[in-house]
Amino acid sequence: MHYVSIAIDGPAGAGKSTISKILSARLGYMYIDTGAMYRAAALYAIERGINIKTDRDKLLKVLGDIDIDLHYKGSVQKVLLCGEDVSQRIRENDVSIGSSDIAVIPEVRKMLVDIQRNLANNNNVIMDGRDIGTHVLPNADLKLFLTASVDDRAERRYKEMLEKGMKADFKEIRASILYRDKNDSERKTSPLKQADDALLVDTTGNTLEQSVEKIYGIIMKNIKAEE
Ligand code: DC
Repeated sequence: MHYVSIAIDGPAGAGKSTISKILSARLGYMYIDTGAMYRAAALYAIERGINIKTDRDKLLKVLGDIDIDLHYKGSVQKVLLCGEDVSQRIRENDVSIGSSDIAVIPEVRKMLVDIQRNLANNNNVIMDGRDIGTHVLPNADLKLFLTASVDDRAERRYKEMLEKGMKADFKEIRASILYRDKNDSERKTSPLKQADDALLVDTTGNTLEQSVEKIYGIIMKNIKAEE
């Protein structure tokens, strides 16, 4: 049996996860938020007082015991780290920066990519991240690269955090997005990059509904016709 895979990559705050969640619920596919996996790994290190940038040996040793689980109720995602619900904590700024730092480490990437590929081998998936179309699922049925201006992306993250009742500082969020754009696209292993066969979708100025409908249309045209 052929399982369908849709790869959605792009920089932080482009709307990948919000859009992927809505569309996977609509299509009955499994949504795999690979960023949440890097975030959970970073939180695991932070909680153990490990400096992600300098304590690499210690980090790789403790990551051997990590247990990350993604659960869904409809389109609401819960991220469990060793059984504890860390869904909200992993969205805070220190974890955002830490996730981008931990993501440069090849051993960490390999560990998470194995889990991601295994999920895609056994389910119809929408998987979002940075390297899904270029590395994790090079044979995905459809590849999209979502982007938007830095200000639009920072504004969305800012509103999203406020809506969740979290503390948010626009300037800090914008700076963190710029830091991650650079870090994610300049790293050696599987950098953030549009795959040659990915369709570019710029969501600058679009409402969430407009972006969802645009991408749903692309999926219907490219995937549903094949099934
Ligand atoms: O999508 P996100 O903002 O939750 O991702 C958090 C960080 O994880 C991001 O800055 C880079 C890293 N990441 C990655 O390197 N590869 C992925 N497939 C997903 C995320």
